[in-house]
Amino acid sequence: MVRKLIAGNWKMNGSVSFASELVGGLLTRIEQEDVSADFVVCPPAALLGSVLALTKNTKLSVGGQDCHENVSGAHTGDTSAELLKNVGCQYVLTGHSERRTDHGESNADVRAKSKAALNAGLVPIICIGETESERVSGNTLKVIEEQVVQSLPDEADPNQIVLAYEPVWAIGTGKTATPDDVAEVHNFIRGLLVSRFGDEPAQKINILYGGSVKPSNAAELLAVSNVDGALVGGASLKVEDFWAIGVR
Ligand code: G3P
Repeated sequence: MVRKLIAGNWKMNGSVSFASELVGGLLTRIEQEDVSADFVVCPPAALLGSVLALTKNTKLSVGGQDCHENVSGAHTGDTSAELLKNVGCQYVLTGHSERRTDHGESNADVRAKSKAALNAGLVPIICIGETESERVSGNTLKVIEEQVVQSLPDEADPNQIVLAYEPVWAIGTGKTATPDDVAEVHNFIRGLLVSRFGDEPAQKINILYGGSVKPSNAAELLAVSNVDGALVGGASLKVEDFWAIGVR
């Protein structure tokens, strides 16, 4: 069993004062308790500087929400993985369903971004998940397989990647996949990773569940086989909730 990873995706939320309060609250708790999980926060790009200053030399890690596939160049508004690494990030989300939907990112784009993250020395948290219509039509595992196979770069190192299963219909909706649904998909993902990397290396990869995770359902979800942590949206914006999800 790998150490659990609890990642907070702030999405396009927050402010300098919010960041200071939330990170301050998390750091106080991390320093006082012997926690059995690792925590990472992924603030919007404009807040990375503030959050990185607050978390310097602490056990709280920081990640970007997206990166460009190129190292530098004429890409107005984008941020490279190299730059994220340079300012102190350790992680970056790639392929979040909101990027796939809002920005038309394909599996090939996610693969290129994940490759850029690995080349920069970041851990990509590669997000996958089926839509409601894909689930209803019985295509969940087919979609997951395509996303895993096509989004992982050839260079993927099992010691340096994280997968996040986020069923799109469960994101920000309050609907959560049942533990049985989650077990089925997470076991399937583990199987794909075993085929790709071999048993021992594949067991070291954290597979996170995301989609309306909150304190009231976290214990049940995190107890499911092959669930090695959570990727949390809304509930990561409240220090008590985010903490309660990861500490039990
Ligand atoms: O990346 C986290 C995510 O998409 C889940 O969001 O608000 O349903 O926890 P939420």
